[in-house]
Amino acid sequence: MDKKIVLSGIRPTGQLHLGNYLGALSNFVKMQNEGKYDSYYFIADLHALTTNPDPKELHTNVRHILAEYLAAGLDPEKSTIFVQSDVPEVSEMYLLLNMHVGIGELMRTAAFKDKARKALGITAPTQGDDDEDVAKEIIGASTNKRVNAGLLTYPTLMAVDILIQRADFVPVGKDQEQHLELTRRFARRFNSFYKVDYFNEPQNFNFGSAPVKVPGLDGSGKMGKSEGNCIYLVDDEKTIRKKVMRAVTDGGPTEPHQPMAEPVQNLFTILKLVGTPDKVEFFTEAYNNCSIRYGDLKKEIAEDIVAMTTPIRERILDIENDSAYLHRVLEMGAERARARAGKTLADVREIMGITKF
Ligand code: TRP
Repeated sequence: MDKKIVLSGIRPTGQLHLGNYLGALSNFVKMQNEGKYDSYYFIADLHALTTNPDPKELHTNVRHILAEYLAAGLDPEKSTIFVQSDVPEVSEMYLLLNMHVGIGELMRTAAFKDKARKALGITAPTQGDDDEDVAKEIIGASTNKRVNAGLLTYPTLMAVDILIQRADFVPVGKDQEQHLELTRRFARRFNSFYKVDYFNEPQNFNFGSAPVKVPGLDGSGKMGKSEGNCIYLVDDEKTIRKKVMRAVTDGGPTEPHQPMAEPVQNLFTILKLVGTPDKVEFFTEAYNNCSIRYGDLKKEIAEDIVAMTTPIRERILDIENDSAYLHRVLEMGAERARARAGKTLADVREIMGITKF
């Protein structure tokens, strides 16, 4: 029996942090090693173009993420690891699928509205119709600011990434669920328009357990790229210690079993993810009997993170400088990804009536 296909992509917009590693990458590696699925992991460089990055920076970021994927344990012999733009079939199918995608449904996508507002420099209304302001600004000629068409059709491109590999499962975070829902809608629409039963409907995938959310170090929310909030996989030991020691806490508990404020809760969540159960128990008890010293808690967390990320960081630095290896990995990945994509594209062209004489 053929294995089910798992596929996920990441936009190369910066280096990976502990949240990316614990929330996604470490699970990709586990899944790959279990061998139950055929996995495809790629770097979405064409998606990155939607925000018009500096070309040199874009190229460097692709290299970073590739090295980070490999350093974390993704194995080109077991998974298909590739760069989106190395599969030109994706670009062609993006054109074809766009013929069945509505401008309106794209404009109503939450991620689009967010990015469009950013590009136009307008803020979201606190109430009322939150679609109209974006639409008016985009069509109106009152501004010299522009929302590029690539940003609008971002979901088409993402749907193509998924459909062209005929993926069954797509592990993505909550913020991408709407895009996945659109992917299913486009697949259904294509099937019904051409009266075929060609695409199946890809599902999200959550590794059999509740999704891991890694909180940030700045007191609220999840770990993200903002300053003072995240630990990068390539951070050295000194940087990690400094960042953790500066994490936000509170004045400390004054009564036994006092409820924890969010920043403190966040530190405990991180400790649970990187430390051992006995340390978690030790510090929880110390909190509950008011003897806790946050400095000690932070030292423990810092050392546990260092122990977890140091071997990865060392591998990242080695791999990143090995251009010949990176080249080999991507050539292999592109070949496999193109083989599968080429088959789908040929079918889609045929179904749509683009056939040779
Ligand atoms: N949009 C995804 C993100 O920002 C990245 C992505 C592009 C993706 N194509 C994909 C994820 C296909 C899963 C499948 O995170």
